[in-house]
Amino acid sequence: MKNKLNKIKEEFYQVIEKARSEKELQDIELKFLSRKGLLSETLKGLKDLGQESKKEIGMLANSIKKELIGKFDNVKKVVKEKETEKLVGDLSLPGKEFPQGHLNPITLIQNELEDIFTSLGFMVEDGPELESDYYNFTSLNVPPLHPARDMQDTFYIDKKNDKGENKLLLRTQTSSVQVRALLKHGAPLKVVAPGRVFRNEATDARHEHTFYQFEGMMVGENINFSNLKKLLEIVGKKLFGENTKLRMRPKFYPFVEPGNNGEYTCFLCKGEGCKVCKGSGWLEIVGAGLVHPDVLRAGGIDPEKYSGLAFGFGLTRLAMLKYNINDVRLFNNGDIRFLEQF
Ligand code: DAH
Repeated sequence: MKNKLNKIKEEFYQVIEKARSEKELQDIELKFLSRKGLLSETLKGLKDLGQESKKEIGMLANSIKKELIGKFDNVKKVVKEKETEKLVGDLSLPGKEFPQGHLNPITLIQNELEDIFTSLGFMVEDGPELESDYYNFTSLNVPPLHPARDMQDTFYIDKKNDKGENKLLLRTQTSSVQVRALLKHGAPLKVVAPGRVFRNEATDARHEHTFYQFEGMMVGENINFSNLKKLLEIVGKKLFGENTKLRMRPKFYPFVEPGNNGEYTCFLCKGEGCKVCKGSGWLEIVGAGLVHPDVLRAGGIDPEKYSGLAFGFGLTRLAMLKYNINDVRLFNNGDIRFLEQF
């Protein structure tokens, strides 16, 4: 019987060392350790032994049983761990990266400008892209037949809006938000309005029918040209660095008086003259001026009491300059390889 027990032990060790799966372990448990297993079956023979050998063999059988169960439990633990590992992989490895997409370069510039202006106390306002003729042109001092309309031809929609206004168009400028914001919030007011605008353009590398602008307006008592100049200077320095200079040159815009173009020192050549600034050292970045009294009146504001400044950045143009993008059509063509670069 001693021999039998030792043989069982030997055989047990042979199979347990090879066991790799829970199924194999189950079979081993059944064959060796269960109530009807080899060990129990053998021990049934104990009762036929004499007193002395019963004791001796009994003790041996017990220690073998303990040993086998101990070994079995250890192997089971290891096999279990291995099986979970197979399911989840190596837990010490770094996780898999999932593609997350990218912010469009225009969104990046827009966020940057919004941060600058909200830090200066401006609120961010929104306006409709499908706009009335009135807010886009007439209220901004551009009545029907005004020659300034020729510069901003757009797409006209032959349908009334929910207010019954029937001259709808795709807005040509975010300036359309100016009178809306004045009517909504009154004065004093500090507001910026980023957004998409449209023009009826023959597209090429520099012209697109859909692009983005960033409008701003500040109305209050005694707002004057030096406020405008200082504000644009601060913004220029934040956008392009401390050494950035601003120069303002007269330009006609119907909704401001005086109107001008703000130019910043070229951020690439620092004013030396390069390809980006076409050798001039300056970049035309922003249209601006003091709000025309007619525009204030259209917004329900008394021009005798209040004055205002207004400006409009070309967001698309800014993004093209900053990220060195040489074809404006890339923004709208949906090619993921373009977006992946930012
Ligand atoms: N809306 C003008 C454009 O699309 C830009 C502009 C110029 C906005 C002067 C302004 C401004 O607010 O004062 O070209």
